Formats: sequence, structure tokens, C-alpha cells
Amino acid sequence: MSVQVPREAGEFLVDTFPKDFVWGCATASYQIEGAWDKDGKGVNIWDTFCHEGGHVENNDTGDVACDSYHKYPEDVKLLKDLGVSHYRFSISWSRILPNGTKSSVNQKGIDYYNRLIDALLEANIQPFVTLYHWDLPQPLQDLGGWPNEALVEHFVDYARVCFESFGDRVKMWLTFNEPYVFCGLGYEYGFHAPGIKDTGRSAYQASRTVIKSHAKTWHLYDDEFRAKQNGKIGITLDSDCFVPKDPNSEADKEAYNTSFEFKLGWFANAIFGEGNFPKLVLDKVAAKSKEQGLSESRLKPFTEEEVKYIKGTFDYLGLNHYTTRLSTPGYKGGEADVCYLADRAVEEETDPAWERAGSEWLYVVPWGLRQLLNDIKTRYNNPPVFVTENGCSDRENAIDDVKRVFYYQSYINQTLKATKQDGCNVKGYFAWSLVDNFEWAMGYAERFGLHFVDFNDPERKRTAKSSAKAYTQIVKENGFKE
Ligand code: NOJ
Repeated sequence: MSVQVPREAGEFLVDTFPKDFVWGCATASYQIEGAWDKDGKGVNIWDTFCHEGGHVENNDTGDVACDSYHKYPEDVKLLKDLGVSHYRFSISWSRILPNGTKSSVNQKGIDYYNRLIDALLEANIQPFVTLYHWDLPQPLQDLGGWPNEALVEHFVDYARVCFESFGDRVKMWLTFNEPYVFCGLGYEYGFHAPGIKDTGRSAYQASRTVIKSHAKTWHLYDDEFRAKQNGKIGITLDSDCFVPKDPNSEADKEAYNTSFEFKLGWFANAIFGEGNFPKLVLDKVAAKSKEQGLSESRLKPFTEEEVKYIKGTFDYLGLNHYTTRLSTPGYKGGEADVCYLADRAVEEETDPAWERAGSEWLYVVPWGLRQLLNDIKTRYNNPPVFVTENGCSDRENAIDDVKRVFYYQSYINQTLKATKQDGCNVKGYFAWSLVDNFEWAMGYAERFGLHFVDFNDPERKRTAKSSAKAYTQIVKENGFKE
């Protein structure tokens, strides 16, 4: 059984993390780079989605963003000042392969990442690279995007170019960032690029392609690159912490399990668990599909051969975590007629006592991270975990961001408890984000940065917030010393 952590802050733990604990900051290409059409870069789905207008708050775009394509030396300097050992960033597929396929490689795109990687290493900061953080080349969307399994081969081709170009210096890789989010928001609600609204099966199909692409890329690295490059590769999955709304109610406990399996389990059960989608998910989707009069389930399980190929394709789990929900049975409907919300039939609520951050979905619940780390330990046999994102938004443009300081101190303290007291195999922690940046459908209105960026200034000046100072101290002390 998983440790049930207390549902309150508890005593602050004064202690340090293991000596080799990794500290870092995270960003993603489309959110910071800008230079959307510079030096041979191809168009991606976020370029298209933003340029269409009407999808993003204030019709903001990532055309310039933080201009990190030009200002990366400043970003490296900020990282150096924070004292972190690692920087998690993503590669823009369309900068490397402008039409998405290996038929043309853009050397200038490769040169950019070489400059960034070399500047990091020069500053004694290790790159931790995400291959896919949501910016699919538009020509591949024109083939149908992730619901089309032909993308497996294209993704693996792209990954090969990255391993060949950067693997001599990059030792930590992640295939995908948050597939739950880009499959669901991109191919079911249309809230994110490519803006597809389909409450049928697109999101499920997309998830199959992504899991197969991940597995094939892991095997590629394992078979052809690991021995000579000596690196590691995993995937970043996102999850809220879920708990039964009433810890004593059997129905709520069941609802918690359903929430878990339909979110983290959807991707994790295949890679870190049994090799397939969770049985509970397959059964619920099949039953609902039958009810709808469909001749087959909207979610096709993997075959036995596929299961063997997918299971265990990880060196570590990247975990993105921000917030917590209370699960209870029922589905009020509204957001989707079918697909995964209706299939799971669970309400995920918040506690009125929880404080909300700048994003509608983000409630500050520090103990949730400890609980989730414990759930992962129990369900997936304690895999190595890097918290690849954790952070807090505001809409206040505050430099003295006291709420974010509290968020980091308390969530990191709960990570420390999970590591030191509960035996969770946590290897590192990355703050989201190094700088304020393009927050997807919320544009520049929601800020997550340790550094404030002035988006009205053509120079995109960066200014350290109080949270940058607080984080620097935690990193320096490797935890909390009094
Ligand atoms: C997760 C995503 O990976 C990242 O791109 C996003 O900005 C943060 N969450 C905050 O919403």
C-alpha cells in the first residue's frame, strides 16, 4: 500500500537531499525561442494556430517570445547565477527538419542548438533535452498529426538526427513532454494546437502513436547509441495528485483509482507498468463504446508483441506536477460528450480552503507532490524520478513574488520528505520556469518565471524575482539548513 501522506503541510523538514541530487530549470522551444521563421526553420502547428488568431489570450504568438534564439547567452548566465547543475530545454523539430521528415536537414537549426549546448557546458551546466514539447511540424499535421501512426517513423528519424548531432554532449534525453495534455487538448478539445475538436477517438489514437514512438526511440537509443554515447533516456508525463474526496468512502477510493489510471496510468502503465493501457481504462472505454453502439472499442489495446516491445522502455520517469484534485464518482458532463472525461465518469474537485494561483487550474497543495511520488513508488516499483517541472503562476507581474517563494519552498520540502522519509527514488528537481514565457492558450498573461521578462521591451530584459533568490538558496544548500 502507498503511504498516505497527511493532508496538511506538517512540520517543515530541515534536511538535505542526497549528494548527487540534480537541480535545474526547465523551458520549451516554442515558449521561449521566438525566431519563428529565421534561418530556415519550418512552420509548426503552434505557428499556424497562433497566426490564425482567436485561439490565444490577446492573440499573443510565440513569434518573438523571450527571443532566446538570440538571447540564449543571457539565459545561460541566469542559470549560472542560480547555481543549477542542469538545464531542461526542448528542441524545435521544425528548426532541425523544416518539413518534418529526414528529406531535408537544416544545418542552421543544428548550429543553434550546438551553440546553446556548448555555452551550457562551458558554464558547467548539463543539458537535459526534450525532443518533443508540442511544436509538431505543420506538414506532419497535414498528414493527420499524432492520430496517424505514420508519425512513429518520422519521430524516430528526427530523434536519430538529434542523437547523431548532439549525443556526444547531451547525456539526458526525454522523448515527449506531457502526452496527456497534447493528445487531449490538441485532438479532443481543440484548446491547443492543432485545434482539433473530436470527442470520439482521436485523442486515444494519438496516445497510441506517441507511446509507440517513445518505445521505438528508446530502442533506437539503446541499440545504437547508448554504448558509444553513454547517456540515458526517458519520458515526461504529467499528473495531478488525486486523492479520494472522502478518505473513508469506498466509492471515492474507487474514483481516485479511476482518476489515476485515466491520467498518469494512461501512459505510464504501458511504459513503466504492464506494457498496455490500464485494464480499468480499456474496460471502461470498451463498455462505453458498446453503449454507443460501436462495433469496436474507441481505444484499441496493444497486441502481445507490442506489449513486449513497449514495456520497460525507460531509464527514468520525468514527472511534471503542479496541483491536486479530490476524486468522487459521477460525471456532470459539459466539456466532452464522450472520450476520456465521460469514459472515466469521475468528478475531480478542489477544496475551498486551497489557494488558487494565477491559472484557473492551479491550486497550491504542497502535500500532493509527496503523495503522488508515493503513489508512483508503489504502482511502478519505485522507478528513478526527475521532477521535470513544478512551479506556480501569477497574473500580477510581481518581482517580489512571495506566493511563488512559498510554493517552491513548500513543494520542495514535500519532495524532500518523499525522498528522505518515504524512500521515493527522486533524482532531481526542475523549476518551471527559468523565465516568464508564452503560456500556450494563455499567451503572456500567466507568468511562471523565476525571472521577469518585459514583453514590451524589444530587448526582452530579464529581472530576477524573489523566487530566483529563494531557489538559489535551496540549490546552494541542497535542501534546507535551518
Ligand atoms: C506544463 C507544460 O509542459 C509547460 O509547457 C507549461 O508552460 C506548464 N505546464 C505550465 O502550464
